[in-house]
Amino acid sequence: MEHTDPLDELLICRLELGRKIIEPCSIVIFGASGDLTSRKLVPALYHLFVEKQLPTPFRIIGFARREKPDEVWREELKQALQQFSRTKKVDPALWAAFSANVHYLQGDFAEPKAYESLASRLAAFGHDALRRNLLCYLATSPSQFAEVIEHLHHAQLLTKGESGNSWQRVVVEKPFGHDLPSAKQLNGELTRYANEKQIFRIDHYLGKETVQNILVFRFSNGIFEQLWNRQSVDHVQITVSEKLGVGARAGYYEEAGALRDMVQNHLLQALSLVGMEPPSSLEAEAIRDEKIKLLKSVRLLDPSQVPLAVVRGQYTAGAINGEARPAYRQEPKVRTDSNVETFVAFKLFIDNWRWAGVPFYLRTGKNLPLSASEVRVQFRAPPSVLFAAQCGPKLDANAITLRLQPNEGITLRVNGKIPGTAMQLRPVRMHFSYDSEFGAYTPEAYERLLLEALAGDATLFIRRDEVEAAWAIVDPIRQAWDKQPLTEREFYPAGSWGPAAADELLKVRGHAWRNPQPMA
Ligand code: BG6
Repeated sequence: MEHTDPLDELLICRLELGRKIIEPCSIVIFGASGDLTSRKLVPALYHLFVEKQLPTPFRIIGFARREKPDEVWREELKQALQQFSRTKKVDPALWAAFSANVHYLQGDFAEPKAYESLASRLAAFGHDALRRNLLCYLATSPSQFAEVIEHLHHAQLLTKGESGNSWQRVVVEKPFGHDLPSAKQLNGELTRYANEKQIFRIDHYLGKETVQNILVFRFSNGIFEQLWNRQSVDHVQITVSEKLGVGARAGYYEEAGALRDMVQNHLLQALSLVGMEPPSSLEAEAIRDEKIKLLKSVRLLDPSQVPLAVVRGQYTAGAINGEARPAYRQEPKVRTDSNVETFVAFKLFIDNWRWAGVPFYLRTGKNLPLSASEVRVQFRAPPSVLFAAQCGPKLDANAITLRLQPNEGITLRVNGKIPGTAMQLRPVRMHFSYDSEFGAYTPEAYERLLLEALAGDATLFIRRDEVEAAWAIVDPIRQAWDKQPLTEREFYPAGSWGPAAADELLKVRGHAWRNPQPMA
């Protein structure tokens, strides 16, 4: 149910009035026949079109190797949209109006001729801006980024620097390298023919409403930020658990593992927003400067310290809600002796004034009991007098949980008296739920991210130095693990919360994981 207090309406503060107008442009998707295009990109663009957020005119060109007439591609996209659209029902008239702007171009990424055809196709649209303003989305394998960018440059479709009346931007998806040296090399290749400001590295977690709300929660409220430090916080837990196994993505996953797939990007991004200092303004660079400062304050591990600070795991056969799950090593395309981790639990410290000595526990895994992403800020226990003296460890310390997904919301746990003649206490929750407050509307992360890239706002994208700082944190872990095969204690049955060692990681300091709970 939506909130309708008229005063709340009056207090809505709109920050986007000064937002850059999106100029007419073409969006070129390289690797258009892949899953990402039909599942995420085109549905997101369709929704933006329906909400009148795309400029007039605009065009979308899908560029891929297979021969295909426009009509066939449009039909494939429509089928996918019907399956993956967040609004489910696709309006035929709106789809017809949208898809008239959608085209397909067959071409080989390695062939200069293909880029000449692209340039002619863009010119043939007959509107100068559709040729000048280009968003090039590289939905390809990272090994093809350099090649595509170079060809774009030679075909005069990518010019370094944005001039007053035209812009070209490049959007790329992870993995941004597989370690620090390869990330540096990739960044070098990306910026050979484009400025850093023209490169938009996507981490789709940053497009999630709730992840953006971390900054609003912290820096638009007077009361919480005062508690957000080592004086008040005992420790922080960030959990991104997934109920699914690796399924059809094992080929990729065998190269990545949970550390590269989730920790290097999504978890460290969430960490940087939770832990960063207030930025000097809401400008993209000011926010990204603070995030990078936070990442650079994370204490780096020496590979020899990894066993004390990081636990890895791999799922064995098990069941989730009565459904049998195979072991990771039995999944298609997985080596039968694979040592790839499907679970990571990581204790880290941030060596700065605000957080010195406060453990941050990060955890992610596949085939866990439920899918949920949460940040839990666990406050210090009250002094051992009065209620605390009588209840002992049973008195729960306060906590704020930011539930990032699903059942998005924020919960504050406090202790309350159970009504009755006896004096009994238990934790109670003050809960804000997005659904009940704002209704069920939550745009897909890709809608927001595509819109920001079109507007040229880089706040929600990862800067080069952020990627590199994140690799510096995870590389020593990878190095330690690469030398050691998995041991018996590192396996966990599908449907459990990971190996027992993940609990021991917290126990040494008297802490325990608080597992996300299913919510109605
Ligand atoms: C992707 C990872 O980046 O994020 C996947 O490659 C993971 O392995 C996915 O499943 C999780 O995203 P979300 O939005 O479903 O939490």
